[in-house]
Amino acid sequence: MTSSVKHAVIAGGLGVIGRNLVTHLSQQSGWKVTAISRRKPDFQTSAAFLSVDLTDPAATRTALNGLKDVTHIFYAAYQEHDDPKMQVELNLAMLQNLVEAVDESSPAFARVILYEGAKYYGAHLGAFPTPAVESDPRQMPPMFYYDQEDWLRSKAASRPWDMIVLRPDVVCGFAIGNPMNLSMVIAVYAAISKELGLPLRFPGTSDCYGRLAQVTDAAQLAAGSQWAANHAVANEAYNLTNGDVFRWHTVWKQAAQYFGMELAAPMTISLSDMMADKGPVWNRIVEKHDLVRVPFEKVASWGFGDFIFRCDWDVISSTTKIRQAGFQDCVDSPAMFIRLFDEFRERKVIP
Ligand SMILES: NC(=O)c1ccc[n+]([C@@H]2O[C@H](COP(=O)([O-])OP(=O)(O)OC[C@H]3O[C@@H](n4cnc5c(N)ncnc54)[C@H](OP(=O)(O)O)[C@@H]3O)[C@@H](O)[C@H]2O)c1
Repeated sequence: MTSSVKHAVIAGGLGVIGRNLVTHLSQQSGWKVTAISRRKPDFQTSAAFLSVDLTDPAATRTALNGLKDVTHIFYAAYQEHDDPKMQVELNLAMLQNLVEAVDESSPAFARVILYEGAKYYGAHLGAFPTPAVESDPRQMPPMFYYDQEDWLRSKAASRPWDMIVLRPDVVCGFAIGNPMNLSMVIAVYAAISKELGLPLRFPGTSDCYGRLAQVTDAAQLAAGSQWAANHAVANEAYNLTNGDVFRWHTVWKQAAQYFGMELAAPMTISLSDMMADKGPVWNRIVEKHDLVRVPFEKVASWGFGDFIFRCDWDVISSTTKIRQAGFQDCVDSPAMFIRLFDEFRERKVIP
């Protein structure tokens, strides 16, 4: 490293991964943080925020041109698109625009940390070989992680900087309006069930209820990202989860206790369909408990919940590689959900 102070550019600084990384890294000595998203930050932070649309190469270059000392990019920006081909094109172009801009402007540029996920192993397609190890063969594309990683790997090969891939699974932490945020799905679904006088019922399949699952605490991922920036072996990929596995029935039992509800047997429903008309119920809850006004369509990602709670197979990534390489932190996942529910309550986003 040429500079004693490292300058991190965190793309996707308002996402569930990015905002927790911004908070973590800006509290560490020796790090300066610039975060990127199109929206302005909605929280107090010492990090600088750049409002730039990464799909626009000229705007990205102009915005980054003033930064001459960037050492690291943490790439956690993400845009959804219904058309899988467009999703690949969009997300690849965003990564390319940012990396090219920093490569041009910052001579001390040293490393890119790219976030992928268990979809790399086919978690979105069906049962996949578990525990998934980093060297497992890929599944049938399209899958934008493959395009992003391949481009980044080949670009880094001819440049002085290197790259690391981190593969978390279901990231749990605070964020609003993002398409993948499971902990808010559970909390808001529980609040609505309670308001309607219902017991808490797992809305996925009974098979999924008993399967082994894993998640990644956003705080654990932030600590692991800092480790990856400093210590990971160049150009390697690492799974990064909480390091434990659990069964959903354990988490839902604890959630029912936490929210003061009776736990009933699972009933498979489509959250996307059944929550579609629950805006007025949510508004009533917000009024009754004087919660922060978050629009109902932004408060929870129901489609993501439907996807996760219908995985009728074990979802497990091996964390042997990252632990042997030196990142050994682990998190008790059922306890993490309770800690996050506490945090959501403190933030007044759930009752
Ligand atoms: N969440 C999970 O459970 C999870 C699990 C494993 C892997 N991953 C992967 O990790 C990556 C990040 O996921 P995430 O869930 O943290 O994403 P997220 O919560 O949806 O956040 C995406 C971020 O990207 C920004 N963004 C989107 N389009 C942009 C654009 N055109 N220009 C600039 N910024 C833009 C968003 O802010 P603005 O809208 O303000 O621009 C936001 O800050 C993705 O590749 C995802 O597949 C996620």
